[in-house]
Amino acid sequence: MKQEKLDKTPARLDFTQSITGLILAIFIMGHILFEASILISKEMMYKVTIMFEGYYFFGETYPGIISFLAGFIFVIFIVHAGIALRKFPDNYRQHMAMKRHTLGMKHEDTYLWIIQLSTGFLMFFIGSVHLYMMIAEPSDIGPYASSYRVVHEMLAPLYFLLLISVITHAFIGLYRLALKWGFMEGKNTKVSRARYKLLMRVFIVVYILVGLASLAKYISIGLEHDYSAGVKKYESQTIKMENH
Ligand code: HEM
Repeated sequence: MKQEKLDKTPARLDFTQSITGLILAIFIMGHILFEASILISKEMMYKVTIMFEGYYFFGETYPGIISFLAGFIFVIFIVHAGIALRKFPDNYRQHMAMKRHTLGMKHEDTYLWIIQLSTGFLMFFIGSVHLYMMIAEPSDIGPYASSYRVVHEMLAPLYFLLLISVITHAFIGLYRLALKWGFMEGKNTKVSRARYKLLMRVFIVVYILVGLASLAKYISIGLEHDYSAGVKKYESQTIKMENH
């Protein structure tokens, strides 16, 4: 008897979405912390920047490395978003049915899913703007250059929205991943689910607070610094390095 072949595409797409989501979540957790180096000092943020430009490895800075990294992240971002497209309600009837279910069930995890859908949708646009800028202007990163962009190129509102969206999206995503791949199947599923949810909330609050503090610091530098001599990454572009 001829056996019907199982279509593995949906499972493969699901798995790819989980993996790309995991990579993006890990990336953003590092990103917000590295970028918060501005809270320690301008010099620290400059050192982190040139570290990513390869200075401590090659003895010179290569901003192209940032373009390459941003390009790589952009590809993962597009694959992740592209696969998610199939989960969007694609007509008014589906949309209304989803709304009815959500309101009717009052089920928190369904709300979480709706938040993910909306923040994901917003990031199609604002995430792409930021990533494109990082690919195109990799050498304009540094305590003064970044602050200039945030204030004088009006990126502050975009970063504010992006911060709230990406942090809620990433940690709800990680929570849902843990749920999906069976990390909560301890002795008591209810207790372990509640613990993961608490962890998710703590991470969301902490990361948003750190991100907001960094954004406030970039804004204050951008407002206070005198850019009349041009926009430099950092004082004389170079800083004195210990051991160099
Ligand atoms: C390799 C790719 C990336 C690079 C090199 C990069 C670099 C930076 C830099 C240097 C800043 C400081 C402000 C500025 O200079 O304009 C910044 C801010 C920010 N980035 Fe990225 N970024 C990347 C990818 C992403 C992605 C994929 C997201 C989210 C989808 C993201 C979200 C943010 C947010 C929310 C802020 C503002 C943070 C805050 O308010 O503290 N970035 N990024």
